[in-house]
Amino acid sequence: MRRALLLPLPLLWACASASGPAQGPASGPADGPHAHGDHGHGDHGRHMEHAFDDPEAWAKRFDDPARDAWQKPEEVVALMALSPGQTAADIGAGTGYFLPHLSRAVGPEGKVLGLDIEPKLVEYMNARAAKEGLANVEAKQVATDDPGFSPASVDRVLIVDTWHHIDRRGEYAQKIRAGLRPGGALFVVDFTLDSPHGPPAEFRLSAESVRDTLLAAGFEAEVLEETLPNQYVVRGRRPLED
Ligand SMILES: C[S@@+](CC[C@H](N)C(=O)[O-])C[C@H]1O[C@@H](n2cnc3c(N)ncnc32)[C@H](O)[C@@H]1O
Repeated sequence: MRRALLLPLPLLWACASASGPAQGPASGPADGPHAHGDHGHGDHGRHMEHAFDDPEAWAKRFDDPARDAWQKPEEVVALMALSPGQTAADIGAGTGYFLPHLSRAVGPEGKVLGLDIEPKLVEYMNARAAKEGLANVEAKQVATDDPGFSPASVDRVLIVDTWHHIDRRGEYAQKIRAGLRPGGALFVVDFTLDSPHGPPAEFRLSAESVRDTLLAAGFEAEVLEETLPNQYVVRGRRPLED
């Protein structure tokens, strides 16, 4: 249908959107979004479960070149203030959209971990890293409730459009804090409550609720200024004295 081509570009991408055209490639009753744990709190409340087991199909959305215009990966990575030689982790890295950007920012002496719960995406990311010559990138499968960091081993953590998929976010945030070096930081990028695209409304989290979850988990947290349309960036820093 030609009409679909007239949609604003962001509507052509969504991990699972509220309405028809932006549904995931494998959408439908069997693998649409599922709600779990409706406790009504930002830290361990309702979260969305969704199948991400078709890398080629998801790559068409996640790695759509048109995404750069609204996702602004260079701006996001600039906010992370990475230095050469550092270790950065992307949790819920999907098909690895952010990996080339993170790889450049930490340089050949640095390390990038692409982490995901879906083994086919992990395989896809490792193949992508090999194909694109990203020698400092390694993709790994992680558990749904633990990013699997060694204590104080990571400088920066990025979580894009994935925080709302995580259950018991307060406990999860504490595990991230333990994995960060003191002074290291977590960056949560997700859709605003009033974004015209993104997850269904009941799964969205406000920037302030994300910030409050991070504060309660022992981070110094704030909502950052940025120019992303329809998304926010929340930074949580592990205190230096932690
Ligand atoms: C909407 S996609 C975002 C992918 C990527 N961050 C991007 O922006 O292109 C969400 C990703 O999070 C992963 N995911 C969901 N729950 C997760 C969890 N508890 N831990 C790690 N990854 C998770 C999914 O498998 C999927 O790849």
